[in-house]
Amino acid sequence: MFVFRLKGNLISNYFNYFSKKLSVIFENNVKKFCKQLKKTQFRRLKNLKIIMSKINAALTGIHACVPEYILTNEELSTMVDTTDEWIQSRTGIKERHILKGEGKGTSDMGAKALLGLLEKTNTKAEEVDVIICATVTPDMLFPATSNIIAHKAGCINAFAFDLNAACSGFLFALQTGRMYVESGLYKKVVVVGADKMSAIVDYTDRKNCILFGDAGGAVMLEPTTEDYGIIDADLHTDGSGKDFLYQKAGGSVYPPTQKTVANREHYIYQEGQSVFKFAVSRMADVSADMMTKHNINPEELAWLVPHQANLRIIDATARRMGIRKEQVMINIEKYGNTTDATIPLCLYDWESQLKKGDKLILAAFGGGFTWGAIYLKWSYDGSQVKKLI
Ligand code: UT7
Repeated sequence: MFVFRLKGNLISNYFNYFSKKLSVIFENNVKKFCKQLKKTQFRRLKNLKIIMSKINAALTGIHACVPEYILTNEELSTMVDTTDEWIQSRTGIKERHILKGEGKGTSDMGAKALLGLLEKTNTKAEEVDVIICATVTPDMLFPATSNIIAHKAGCINAFAFDLNAACSGFLFALQTGRMYVESGLYKKVVVVGADKMSAIVDYTDRKNCILFGDAGGAVMLEPTTEDYGIIDADLHTDGSGKDFLYQKAGGSVYPPTQKTVANREHYIYQEGQSVFKFAVSRMADVSADMMTKHNINPEELAWLVPHQANLRIIDATARRMGIRKEQVMINIEKYGNTTDATIPLCLYDWESQLKKGDKLILAAFGGGFTWGAIYLKWSYDGSQVKKLI
């Protein structure tokens, strides 16, 4: 989409009129449309300079928060009937971090990630326009966790809302944030992906408790007219998948009762093999299709940044894309599946290696079912970023 930047005296109702019109104009119609505008409304405006440029949404910073406590496979094997060998061979996970402490929730990790992000990008809290938090473990059903994060970080001028698309949430939120930036209306949009999965994991269920961990990450999106930022997104939802991965009770269909608690229905339910099969095909397809659509050769791709749910799913995706393992960000062994935080946590861990212009594909899948891929060009040299203590 194209938008106009107007220099000179702006007449607000003219601007509103034009921006409404322009939002529906595609690139190949822009010249024709400009001629029409000049003939009519623009003729009456003096000293108006029009600079036509495409606004991209660039990722200009990243930070993350990982809680201190490490829950190892060894410790888990004292809690349920499992072994380090089984967990590593089936999932690739060695350990995960757990947020301990009464009254601590997802917003604590999100706010810490956001505060670090503000420091690294030299941004004042009051400058943030929008905060979108992707999470499946909100502090509470309402108000939104993003509100609480905004308050904790002092972002008094931002409006904030949560977004739930299970493990694909960060990608869905990134695409949403991109739209706010590309519209030209907002300049600093923060996308947070944060989950305290330990709050909904049943630590007597060996099939699931080995998988998940807690963390939060935050990225800054800002406008640029350079050829960087989010180039394309391909996102999907299929609600017929809802019975394979969900949290049954606690919502409006099954509000919390003594019975739902006794039946352990506030914990994650997952049919692992069904989700596995779905994930392997969809995440691999959508990522490979993105490469084909944009004529990206396997060697050209700097990084695949996949959702970290199972090493075998990541390997299958990389194989399907024809890329080497060295081109894939993998940190599942350290954190497990942190749901909405996996992708920002990868970007955070690899930030110092990221170079301006690097081509990245971000890919995810999750409950719902949801899945998708985002293609972006990295916008800064990560090696130049100041390190926070
Ligand atoms: O981001 C959210 C999306 N979710 C996912 O991506 C999860 C996708 N699914 C998976 O990653 C895998 O299905 C799991 C890791 C969850 C399970 O691996 P699997 O290879 O599909 O194992 P399985 O469920 O088929 O179980 C195989 C065996 C069973 O024993 P029997 O019936 O063959 O005797 C299980 O009872 O392994 C047993 N088992 C375990 N054994 C030791 C299941 N969990 C464990 C365990 N330790 N923790």
